[in-house]
Parts: sequence; structure tokens; C-alpha cells
Amino acid sequence: MSIKSELGFIRVGAHSHIRGLGLKDGKALIKADGMVGQIEAREAAGIIVELIKQGKMAGRGILLAGPPGTGKTAIAVAIAKELGEDVPFIAIAGSEIYSSELKKTEVLMQAMRKAIGVRIHEFRKVYEGMVSDLDIKMTRHPYNPYQQIPESAKIKLKTKNEERTLTVGSSIARELIGRGVGIGDVIWIEAETGRITKLGKCKEYEGPKYDIEAEVQVPMPTGPVLKEKEFIYTVTLHDLDMRMHSSSGGLFSLFFGGREEREIPPDVRQNVDKLVKKWVDEGTAEIIPGVMFIDEASALDIEAFSFLGRAMESELAPIIILATNRGITKVRGTDIISPHGIPLDILDRLMIITTRKYSAEEIKEILQIRAREEKVKLSEEALETLTKIGEETSLRYAAQMLTPAQIIAKRKGRDTVTAEDVKEIRTLFADVKQSSEYLKKYEAEMLK
Ligand SMILES: Nc1ncnc2c1ncn2[C@@H]1O[C@H](COP(=O)(O)OP(=O)(O)O)[C@@H](O)[C@H]1O
Ligand SMILES: [Mg+2]
Repeated sequence: MSIKSELGFIRVGAHSHIRGLGLKDGKALIKADGMVGQIEAREAAGIIVELIKQGKMAGRGILLAGPPGTGKTAIAVAIAKELGEDVPFIAIAGSEIYSSELKKTEVLMQAMRKAIGVRIHEFRKVYEGMVSDLDIKMTRHPYNPYQQIPESAKIKLKTKNEERTLTVGSSIARELIGRGVGIGDVIWIEAETGRITKLGKCKEYEGPKYDIEAEVQVPMPTGPVLKEKEFIYTVTLHDLDMRMHSSSGGLFSLFFGGREEREIPPDVRQNVDKLVKKWVDEGTAEIIPGVMFIDEASALDIEAFSFLGRAMESELAPIIILATNRGITKVRGTDIISPHGIPLDILDRLMIITTRKYSAEEIKEILQIRAREEKVKLSEEALETLTKIGEETSLRYAAQMLTPAQIIAKRKGRDTVTAEDVKEIRTLFADVKQSSEYLKKYEAEMLK
């Protein structure tokens, strides 16, 4: 049995409905995995996924080129999903590398290492069983006489073969309370850390039963209470860098600088790489290259591009996907004009996928999927109105109006969003074209 930890990677909320590329034998289904339309781009992305799986993308990257709101980010997310459940996905915008705290290359390096996962297999001793008795001893809080805090606990764990009583200290007792552990629950207590995992209610438990049980039912564990279990979890190279760095950094790093704003010295990274390679050789870890997605690629400058060029060549590299909605423009930091503002030597190594504008029908389908995802009920006219807005402005703007429109509907005591709610919300929030035109007009007036 194994357990997968929650990943620390960015959850891309607006793309939560995307579960894959929606392909069957390489052909895009009209509507599948949360994806609608954009057939050629999805099929091209499917070929990229094949190349990645066969290890044939080394030294190359991908460029998604298309107008705003045409699914560039969605496709990048889908590529990561196709590669596997715990494959890291990290998204940054080209402009984000210009931070005041860190060098551009350091921002890129950190992003790159957040996009490389390390799946670690670890055996740990755990106490496992159904709680058959629990006695928590409380005492008075040392500084607050009105408060009771747990001092210790006696807990009896039962498997099909054994029953064992454990005496635990205050921190585990506090966790037992915090997690709402009660008699009849099947739990794990990790021997080394005292970390508690509640697996669910025991099927064989003979206490009071309720008609509605919100908790999962699990069978009573077998074997001894204390046993070794395999834990599988995924961290990123960046997580390991941070851990290695703070263990060598001492107190200074605890007090100065936010956790994310620190530069990690190269030797720390070298040590992490060495360690990970050792784990891989020993068979206790696997490296999972993920996806590093860089939006607004034309905001990157020449230095950033040469960093990425080297990164593509390196041994430990994620899949690099750039996205742009710019045509021919200057490469930032130079006077060179180039397609998408990307230097030619980098463009040479990119496989380019273009995305096209959606039809009204496709916009409608996508809005419907997003509405379901965000649990927003729309009347047929509301959907039509929103689709029209999507055509006139952008898909993204229309999708963003879903939840605000629901708030308007709720205020009026309705469950379902009507066309009126959508129209009202349209007057309250500007789309990009409106807001920039407004400011342009305002600027012109200021100059008079
Ligand atoms: N083909 C598609 N199928 C389903 N959802 C899509 C599709 N294309 C875009 N979306 C969704 O529409 C919204 C805008 O798309 P996005 O990927 O952000 O566009 P871009 O990155 O090109 O600006 C997002 O919520 C995205 O998940
Ligand atoms: Mg995008």
C-alpha cells in the first residue's frame, strides 16, 4: 500500500477542468478530457507527448503561438496531465523573471527545478490499527488557566491479529484531537515522527452506526500493529534544494529573507543532484521531468533565452513550453527583430504549435464546462449572452464572469443565473479593450 502526498505545485484553477488532451489513437475527440475543439493543436501536442515518452525531446522545446484565450495554457496543462498523475507543472510569465530580489537566471533556475519531480520510495515504521480505546488526559494550560490542553493519551490499536496499547505524549495527543480521531477509526501513527493519518471508519466496528456515514469505510488491518510500510511521495528538486540550503544555512537564513526570495548557491544544487543520483542508483527514487511553462515568452530577454538554450541541453531538464501571442517584435535586450521576439537559435529548437480562435459553438461548450466546474447554474439565455460576450471580448473574460454573475443571481434570491445577471455583470467589469481605451481617453484629456 502506498500513499501519495499532496503536491506543492501550483494549482491552476482556471484549468481545473482539463484532464488531458482528449485524444484517442492520436486523433482528437471533439469533446473529451475537458477539452473542446482546437483539434490540430491537440493532435500536435499528442505527438509531443509521444516524443517525450520515448525520450526524443532532448535539446528541444515547444512554442505555443496564438491569440489570447485560445487555450495555450490549457494545452500545456494537458500535456503535463498526459505525462502522468504526479508530473510537476509550473507556470511563470516571462515578465516574472524581473524580480527585485533575485537574478533573472536564479528565478528561471528555481522555476526549472520546481518542474523536475523526484518520486521517493521510503519504508517507514508505522503503528496501524483500529482505535479500540482512547483516553486523553487533559491538563491546565501553563499560561492560560481557562484553557485545557492535552497532556498525554493512552490509545489501544487493534488489528485482526493483535491488540496493543500505546502511551503517547502531548503532541500526538493534540494531533489525535485535531484530526478528530475516535473509537472505531482506522489510523496510522508514524513511529519516527508521530504523524497521524486517518484512513476511515472500520467496517468491523461494532459501536453506534449512523444512517449517513460521511467517512470512508475501511477493513480492519491485518498483521502486527507495528509494521513497515512503503511510502511513495513526490518532491521537486527545488524542494530538496530548499531543504538542503536551510539545513546548511543556519539561523541567519531563518531570520532574514522570505523562504522563496533566497538565492540558492550552486554547490547546494550540485549536492542535491549528487544525492538524487545516488537514490536513483540505489533504486529508491525516480526522476520525473515535468513541464515548465513560460507564458508571454516575448517578455524574456536575450540573457534569459541563452539560459533556456543551455537548460534544454542539460542532463536534468524539464520539458520547456513557451507561449506567445506576439508576432514579429524585438528580442528584449537587443535591437534584433525576430518572430515572437525569440532569438533565431532558440526558435530553431522549438516545435511550434499554433492555436486558432474559437467558434461561437466552441466558446459555448467551454463556458458550459467551466460553469459545471465552478458549480454555476446558467439559464439557456444566460449561456447565449455569455457566449456572445466571449466572441466579442475573449473566452477568458467570459469565463471569468461566471462566478460574479452567480453572486448577482444569489443576491436576487435566485439559484440560476439569467441573461439579465450576465448583462448586469458586463456593465460592472470591463474587458481589457474597454479598460485600456478608457485610460487612453483619460490620458488624452489630461494632456489638454
Ligand atoms: N480547447 C479548450 N477546451 C477546453 N477549455 C479550454 C480550451 N481552450 C481554452 N480553454 C479554457 O479557456 C480559458 C482560457 O484559455 P487559456 O488556456 O488561458 O488561453 P491562452 O493561454 O491561450 O490565453 C481557460 O480557462 C482554459 O482552460
Ligand atoms: Mg495563457
